[in-house]
Amino acid sequence: MNRKEKLKIAVLVSGGGTNLQALIDKMADGQIRDGEIVKVISSREDAFALERAAKAGIATAVAAEQDKVLAELQESGADIIALAGYMKVLSPEIIRAFRNRIINIHPSLIPKYCGKGYYGIHVHRAVIEGGEKESGATVHYVDEGVDTGEIILQEKVPVLEGDTPEELAARVLKTEHKIFAKGLQKVIDRVQAEKPQEDEGGR
Ligand code: GRF
Repeated sequence: MNRKEKLKIAVLVSGGGTNLQALIDKMADGQIRDGEIVKVISSREDAFALERAAKAGIATAVAAEQDKVLAELQESGADIIALAGYMKVLSPEIIRAFRNRIINIHPSLIPKYCGKGYYGIHVHRAVIEGGEKESGATVHYVDEGVDTGEIILQEKVPVLEGDTPEELAARVLKTEHKIFAKGLQKVIDRVQAEKPQEDEGGR
């Protein structure tokens, strides 16, 4: 049985980092296997996500410009990149360098309420104004578009009568935390399966 090397995960953040925290916690309790977060890169130096990373003993960097983000990612040796509340659009160079290795968590049922301008509370306000009876979260691959990559996992949540955008956001965020970890595990398993199996027999 080949002992699998843990895959290196870099996490890009911009804000509070509750999705990052979900990944940290689920790796610690074994719900996410064969992966370890090796670096957290924030687009903002005031992101609380950086404190969460530091508390977990994870290396951090602040990089707004995409060429610096690429350099930090290459230096980290990341196999997979997870966008966790990341508020910038990745450069085509990064997408090319990490094709099919970048995932994002979006707080709606893509292809609804996504793309330019649909982020954070704006998503939930639009869902309520749209009279939707359900919303949810989506984990998807990141390509050159905004929220346009192949969907990995989705989960629905109800929109309740009288919901405020903040109440809906809180309900969806719980689902984000759950499916982001599951989605990352699916990608870890896929990338691990693609790796050439080292032949321990030395034949
Ligand atoms: C949340 O609105 C979430 O829906 C989106 O980014 C925002 C912040 O997430 N993915 P986090 O708490 O910084 O992970």
